[in-house]
Amino acid sequence: MTSVPVAREDILALRSYKAGAQVDDTIRLNANEAPQSHWLDGEHSALNRYPEVHPLTLRKRMAELFDVPTNNLLVTRGSSEAIDVLIRAWCRAYRDSLITTPPTFEMYRVYADIQGVERIDVPLDADQDFALDADAVIDSCTDSTKLIFICSPNNPTGTLVPEDDILKIIEARQQKSLVIVDEAYIEFAARNSMADLVQEYDNLVILRTLSKAHALAGARCGAAIACEEVVDVMSKVLPPYSFPTPVIDNVMNALAGDRLNKSAEAVAGIIAERDRIQATLPSISCITNFWPSQSNFLLVRFQDLAGIQDHLFEHRILIRDFGSYPGLDNCARITIGTADENNALLDALNTYGDPRSG
Ligand SMILES: Cc1ncc(COP(=O)(O)O)c(C=O)c1O
Repeated sequence: MTSVPVAREDILALRSYKAGAQVDDTIRLNANEAPQSHWLDGEHSALNRYPEVHPLTLRKRMAELFDVPTNNLLVTRGSSEAIDVLIRAWCRAYRDSLITTPPTFEMYRVYADIQGVERIDVPLDADQDFALDADAVIDSCTDSTKLIFICSPNNPTGTLVPEDDILKIIEARQQKSLVIVDEAYIEFAARNSMADLVQEYDNLVILRTLSKAHALAGARCGAAIACEEVVDVMSKVLPPYSFPTPVIDNVMNALAGDRLNKSAEAVAGIIAERDRIQATLPSISCITNFWPSQSNFLLVRFQDLAGIQDHLFEHRILIRDFGSYPGLDNCARITIGTADENNALLDALNTYGDPRSG
């Protein structure tokens, strides 16, 4: 028996858009496309035809990349779109609820607010390195709780949620809530993806992205990995033709051959840089705290965040202000850059308060 929590009845009953067939070596008079391209440079694909309705070639390649069966993966425009689709497909406006564990990725809140879905916040424990309380998550669920978002490694804290805690929540909420584990930064962590567990748990959804470790944020390409039933419901909500031909071409090219080894090398380099910066932070006087990160960023607490931001801006360096978030006063998230960029950051931090700097 399936343990997928029931999606919105109207989505289950939705009659999806029936796109014109796309068959090679045929005269295509079924999609109101222009018969010829007016723009051909010999290097790029012609654009007079619609792209694939859903990008199957890309789907297969991403399934291979994330080591899951193709039918368990849905390609979305960034993993952000998967968040939106899950909320719209499972949550009825002004009736259903979802759980988030702040401080965490903002887009869960934004898409919940857009859909009119009640958000139940179960805060991470700032005094315990932002640990998640699995029992509190389970106890906070109500009959209307359809989705539980867990971000691991978490943005902006960089912390991992122990797999046992996630499993406890998944098991407690079978048939009731989908547990969405957002693994946008998993490649930078000392732990593997939990994606293989979707074979075992029908109420588990894993989110992956090409935006971080694979350095393809500009392509807007992410994936939801789940049991086929969940993938099929999500596909009903995705618009047809949403992946432009140049994006498909570029991403396929970027993931070809030994380019994946390049991603792995780059990730190793970022982890080494992260650890190098982390090791120097205790000696920087304007920093009062930081949290060990399993990601490509660090969460740092400053004595005076506003002053630091002004100072860094004078050095043309931007960091992300999280100071207004509960529990994160004077905190900023700093993305790991190239060694030169990181050195520029460290130099600027070390000269803060020095009247000769800036
Ligand atoms: C935790 C987390 N999830 C998802 C995303 C969305 O990534 P994208 O839509 O680029 O795949 C981000 C982006 O920063 C993120 O931090």
